Amino acid sequence: MSEGERLTELAKRRGFYFPSSSAYGGTAGFWTYGPQGAALKSNIEDAWRDRYVVKEGHQEISAPDIMPEPVFEASGHLDGFDDMIVECGECGATHRADHLVEDNTDIEEAESLPNEEVMDLIADHGIECPSCHTSLADQPVDNFNLMFETNIGPGSSSPGYLRPETAQGIFVEFPQLSEYARNQLPFGVAQIGKAYRNEISPRKSLVRVREFTQAELEHFIDPEEDEPPLAEVEDVTLPLYSAAAQESEDGGQRELTVREAVDEGVVESEWVAYYLGVSTEWYERVGVDMDRFRYRQHLAGERAHYASDCWDAESEVDGDWIEITGFAYRGDYDLSKHAEHSGEDYTVFKQYDEPITVERATVDPDMSYLGPEFGGDAGAVADALEALAERNPDAFDDDEVTVEVDGESHTVPVEETNFSVDEVTENGEHIRPHVVEPSFGVGRIIYTVLAHAYETDEVDGEERTYLDLPPEQAPTTVGVFPLMDKDGMAELASDIADDLRAAGLSVTYDDSGAIGRRYRRQDEVGTPYCVTIDYESLEDGEVTVRERDTTEQKRLPIDGLADRLERLAT
Ligand code: GAP
Repeated sequence: MSEGERLTELAKRRGFYFPSSSAYGGTAGFWTYGPQGAALKSNIEDAWRDRYVVKEGHQEISAPDIMPEPVFEASGHLDGFDDMIVECGECGATHRADHLVEDNTDIEEAESLPNEEVMDLIADHGIECPSCHTSLADQPVDNFNLMFETNIGPGSSSPGYLRPETAQGIFVEFPQLSEYARNQLPFGVAQIGKAYRNEISPRKSLVRVREFTQAELEHFIDPEEDEPPLAEVEDVTLPLYSAAAQESEDGGQRELTVREAVDEGVVESEWVAYYLGVSTEWYERVGVDMDRFRYRQHLAGERAHYASDCWDAESEVDGDWIEITGFAYRGDYDLSKHAEHSGEDYTVFKQYDEPITVERATVDPDMSYLGPEFGGDAGAVADALEALAERNPDAFDDDEVTVEVDGESHTVPVEETNFSVDEVTENGEHIRPHVVEPSFGVGRIIYTVLAHAYETDEVDGEERTYLDLPPEQAPTTVGVFPLMDKDGMAELASDIADDLRAAGLSVTYDDSGAIGRRYRRQDEVGTPYCVTIDYESLEDGEVTVRERDTTEQKRLPIDGLADRLERLAT
């Protein structure tokens, strides 16, 4: 069994996650988190919130999953959020064309290749339909938009889409969010929520699904002035696999501190470098094995339509590298697009320390001189003159000035424009913030953490499977077992379980089966501590506390047990 397969088997058996709606045959790409998985997910989300919202001093919002079409026209998703699809002419099965190429050739990243090239590769390598083994050589490779479409209200006049990233719910609301931040840059807005992508070929359980949870932070900054607190993470070591390393023949991964990565220009944006440093510590905290982890820079052709520099955090499972987080410098792309499409103000007014006096060129064109026979749009000519005066006042130095409107040149005598240059006092200016975005896929992090926590050893001559999850993330912190359900042991155990719960610990009470089997069950869900109540406990007020990884057992007093376990688990 591969690492992924044995994990999926354990996940289903122990209630971490399993395919949804299987009573009706199931639907690929949808998974239900069971009791252990939902608890693990919530612990990971809490750890994310603690680091990226609370400790960073950012705000969190919760926006709708469905948004109207104009949002995605503006964001570029309607036009450009496509994957390459090839449909089998024989059986009608659809496949991701670039994945077929990656699976059947030594090309690692086919996503950025043009469709025609992917089609040629499919033909040249004799790639067959994985469902019916018919050659796909003559099939076209088309684009398939990944957004799920729906109608808002009855009828089809108001199309909406399930958001393909939580980020748009933040960008669209920037004018309000900026007001709440009192228009003071920098500020960050985070969101943990569902995102939906109608993936052509869901695969590897939680890795490529159609509905998943993202934890995203949009950090709005003034690109001219704001600097990240780099000193806080400058000594953190980053395993970096840069674009240059990927493209060079002998290049490979390099270990650089955050400071070195910035000074050597390996990571271009200090903000991105800052978040790589913060995140390295966070991945370690939630249980990613840092020997199976790297940051990979996107190659130029691979970047999303909005990103100028992008690094992925990748984890290794089964010999494959999985993107678990994207760190993108999105510039002002999103806010500019929403401003352009909505006509709203997506800027921040930046107040100067002292008011300044500047020369301002203005025009007040009275276009009536053009006369009634003028066939063009006089208002548009006046607007173009105004814009030109602001942009390039020198153009008004001559007797005539020329502007272009709808591809036509219009020459106007300067005296007709009432051009003037005046001194004005300015208190500040409107600037469009830039955005730095760490975007985490919660399901892929859960998959990684579980795969990396999966351990086997031998206990009492038998193979044992256990998850060495960090106690903070484990779905259950303590298993409480009465040795037997008699002579008051169950009652005492039940009281202890209640006390531990009252102290805020997550507790499982289990009184069925041999004690060894109960330990194994908790080992398999990663419970760090088990407490057994036996005959002696009734006499001496002590219990046996067993540690998951070492299986070592200690006698500890019931009095103070909750405090002690809480200290150990956090
Ligand atoms: N807002 C930026 C954005 O959405 P992305 O790289 O497309 O960027 C961010 O997605 C993260 O979301 C990825 O790093 C991955 O962890 C997760 N993700 C994306 N598509 C996914 C899918 N189909 N199934 C599971 N997780 C996915």
